[in-house]
Amino acid sequence: MTTRFSALLLLALLSAKCGPAEGKCPTGDVLPCKCGSRFLQDHHDGEVQLDCSSANTSEEISSASRASWPSSQLWQFRLTDNKLVEELPEGVMGDLSFQSIWVSDTALKRIHPSAILPSGDRLVNLSVENSYNPLSEFPSTVIKSLRKLEEFYCSGCNLGPTLSNGLLRFRSKTLKLVVLWENGISRLGPKDISGIRTDTVVYLTHNKIAMLDEGIFRPTLEIMSQGKGVLHLEGNPVQCGRNLEWLALAPKLLRKVKGACEDGTSLACSVLDLRPCSCEEHSDGMTVDCSSARTSEEVSSAFDKIWPSARLSHFILLNNSEIQELPEGVFGAHSFQNIYLSKTAVKAIHPSAILSSRGQLVNLTVENSRLGRFPFHVLSMFPRLEGLWLRNNSLTSVPAIHSESLEFLYLPNNGIEKIKENGWATPNLREIDLGHNPLLEFPSVVIKSLKKLEKFYCPECHLGPTLSSGLLEFQSNSLRLVSLWKNGISRLEPKAITGTILRPFIRP
Ligand SMILES: *[C@@H]1O[C@H](CO)[C@@H](O)[C@H](O)[C@H]1NC(C)=O
Ligand SMILES: *[C@@H]1O[C@H](CO)[C@@H](O)[C@H](O)[C@H]1NC(C)=O
Ligand SMILES: *[C@@H]1O[C@H](CO)[C@@H](O)[C@H](O)[C@H]1NC(C)=O
Ligand SMILES: *[C@@H]1O[C@H](CO)[C@@H](O)[C@H](O)[C@H]1NC(C)=O
Ligand SMILES: *[C@@H]1O[C@H](CO)[C@@H](O)[C@H](O)[C@H]1NC(C)=O
Repeated sequence: MTTRFSALLLLALLSAKCGPAEGKCPTGDVLPCKCGSRFLQDHHDGEVQLDCSSANTSEEISSASRASWPSSQLWQFRLTDNKLVEELPEGVMGDLSFQSIWVSDTALKRIHPSAILPSGDRLVNLSVENSYNPLSEFPSTVIKSLRKLEEFYCSGCNLGPTLSNGLLRFRSKTLKLVVLWENGISRLGPKDISGIRTDTVVYLTHNKIAMLDEGIFRPTLEIMSQGKGVLHLEGNPVQCGRNLEWLALAPKLLRKVKGACEDGTSLACSVLDLRPCSCEEHSDGMTVDCSSARTSEEVSSAFDKIWPSARLSHFILLNNSEIQELPEGVFGAHSFQNIYLSKTAVKAIHPSAILSSRGQLVNLTVENSRLGRFPFHVLSMFPRLEGLWLRNNSLTSVPAIHSESLEFLYLPNNGIEKIKENGWATPNLREIDLGHNPLLEFPSVVIKSLKKLEKFYCPECHLGPTLSSGLLEFQSNSLRLVSLWKNGISRLEPKAITGTILRPFIRP
């Protein structure tokens, strides 16, 4: 009694002196394992760690666990970079329990359930990562008793090729992360993985999963779609095609899957047969490229096949000498952030072809084509439109443009003779290019109205030989560049060009 009392007193004194955690390691030694009290490493931190990384045999670990521990409830068991211990056998941990078990880069082949079971109601992180030396036996049955499990890593745990029914049956309400890289898993049965929560992120990366069966994956994805959960399938030989229709037709589930088909096409695109158009998926949505289409009907019919809620971002038509028009309703109700046409034979764009994108459209480009008419009058309905790039077409006139958002207006190399002078409302226009156009009258009033103009280009605008007074009356405080080369100008009347140009750069 007295002895124990003084031992306790001594312990109390020791802890008072060396910090509260010191007394939590055994008085007898645990060599070659080490007991440490406070850790802050690799995002793992806690008190009282048993580190057996230097052990040569499992007996050494057993004997460390049998030392006289002041409390059997430890924070972490660690075994890393160890080439000798091949097994965590029955009873190896005695009655020690842990919140965290961390095993990585070891020669372990077997982990007996009793190494983990005593920790059942305390274990938060269980990490076994042996990608270069797979375990031959992982006690997956213990998983259902881990009710506090948050993070489960079992990479290279040799769980494949098939997971037997209910192998990974999680029962923790706080499960956040399941990492099963490189387990050679090729098939999942209906209940192989259960207990995934709405916020659980699951990595099945670099396995051999080829089929994404609806019956197996849909329930899990439905759960994930209600929270932050994600299923990672990168590096699996996923076979795509019509069998993935269930997924492709459900964007809220599709968003939860990361990965691609074996041939590299995205899961969403692979399901859609958009021929002759093609599809590519990016983080901001899908790009649909119809450069190989021969008629606008082919373009329309491709868009008929895309489900209405698909997230599209770019439309591309490039180097196409056959399509002459983007006709009424060509994209259905689909909407883009970017519409890009270059080197085409397109002469006309029906307002409805761009109006379906009015909420999203940022840049609209039709260049090196034959555009003779453009629906300028609808631009006021595009609240996000920043750039209108219409260089090298056949436009002959431009009406007054109304757009709160427009910043870039590029109209060079057209046949523009007339620009409506009055009624412009483009308060945020920063750059305008009217170059290489046979302007009959210079739109001085428009230029004067641009209070935020930074760059003005009008090379080969037929402005010479005399620039008359008041022709270029800049009223912007941010003007940086005025380009008037090749205008045959020989004389400037007084006040032909007025305004402040920052860092002047005027080319005659
Ligand atoms: C463990 O093995 C290494 C060499 O394999 C040896 O140098 C070391 O002394 C051994 N440690 C113990 C505690 O037996
Ligand atoms: C579990 O792991 C996470 C991240 O790796 C860490 O933040 C957390 O502190 C760990 N919990 C325990 C009890 O070790
Ligand atoms: C454009 O199309 C023509 C034939 O229509 C082809 O010869 C040329 O290689 C294409 N150019 C590019 C850049 O694809
Ligand atoms: C629109 O064009 C501008 C100018 O080229 C560019 O800076 C911007 O990133 C483009 N925005 C989108 C969404 O493509
Ligand atoms: C205008 O577009 C045509 C057709 O694509 C092309 O051949 C020509 O080089 C372009 N001209 C300029 C100045 O870009």
